[in-house]
Amino acid sequence: MRIGFIGTGEIAAAMVRGLAGRGHQIMVSERNAQVAAQLAAEVDGATVAANADVVAGSDVVFLCLVADVARQVLPSLPFRADQAVISVMVDVSHDALQQLCAPATDIAMTIPLSAISTGGSMLPVYPASTALTALFGDSDHVFAVASEAALNAHFAGSALSAPLIALMQTGAQWLGDQTGDPKAAEGYVAGVFAGFLRQMATSDADFDALLQGLATEGGLNASLKAHMQETGAHDALVAGLEALKPRLGL
Ligand SMILES: NC(=O)c1ccc[n+]([C@@H]2O[C@H](COP(=O)([O-])OP(=O)(O)OC[C@H]3O[C@@H](n4cnc5c(N)ncnc54)[C@H](OP(=O)(O)O)[C@@H]3O)[C@@H](O)[C@H]2O)c1
Repeated sequence: MRIGFIGTGEIAAAMVRGLAGRGHQIMVSERNAQVAAQLAAEVDGATVAANADVVAGSDVVFLCLVADVARQVLPSLPFRADQAVISVMVDVSHDALQQLCAPATDIAMTIPLSAISTGGSMLPVYPASTALTALFGDSDHVFAVASEAALNAHFAGSALSAPLIALMQTGAQWLGDQTGDPKAAEGYVAGVFAGFLRQMATSDADFDALLQGLATEGGLNASLKAHMQETGAHDALVAGLEALKPRLGL
């Protein structure tokens, strides 16, 4: 397939790496020049081109710009009715995409995260997209959500990533301070959570089941969990998610 990327930043680079080695022709736009050159050097079949050439030469176009830039750049690009357009952008509605990418009508919105570079990542999409499923359905978990509002709620859900990773990092740094081996401490904390997530992926265990297994009365896990709840960490997380709702139209 001929796949184009408009905007060659963090998330486009992760997607291109995720598509590497599958026989696709991949065209990335010349911004960011450094990332584009790196991808062209690293990924077989990847080339760099101007935005208009990327759109003209692609069966599927991924839009990986920030919203303000998208509103400026997209109207002048030569979209076609016979190509699929997939936006990964927050803050650009489906209605706006239809106007910005006319005459294309096969337009979907999804939320990749950097783990798409190695596969196994979650890809909610609205509306269902044959093109996204064809490209990532074998390597990642592509699932259609019922509405644009549901997709936007998943954008908020995806924002759990940085705060929860930062919490794990804080815990790992504390452990490293005790042991004197910060690298091993980070590996330990990451490994503990990888183990729980693998358990969830390969059994019918859910979060409740994992927490029950960690709820020994007087146990260390129960003590630390109660401390976090009492000091308001959980409320702060929910308040932070609630604060995202106006921006996401929720
Ligand atoms: N990062 C994530 O994990 C993630 C996850 C889901 C969704 N998203 C969404 O993906 C979009 C991009 O995020 P990002 O993190 O990849 O941002 P980013 O790294 O800043 O990438 C934005 C890209 O747009 C390029 N650009 C700027 N002006 C341009 C123009 N006129 N023509 C073509 N390209 C232009 C930038 O190039 P220069 O560097 O040369 O300016 C850069 O390559 C955002 O809408 C974000 O909401 C990101």
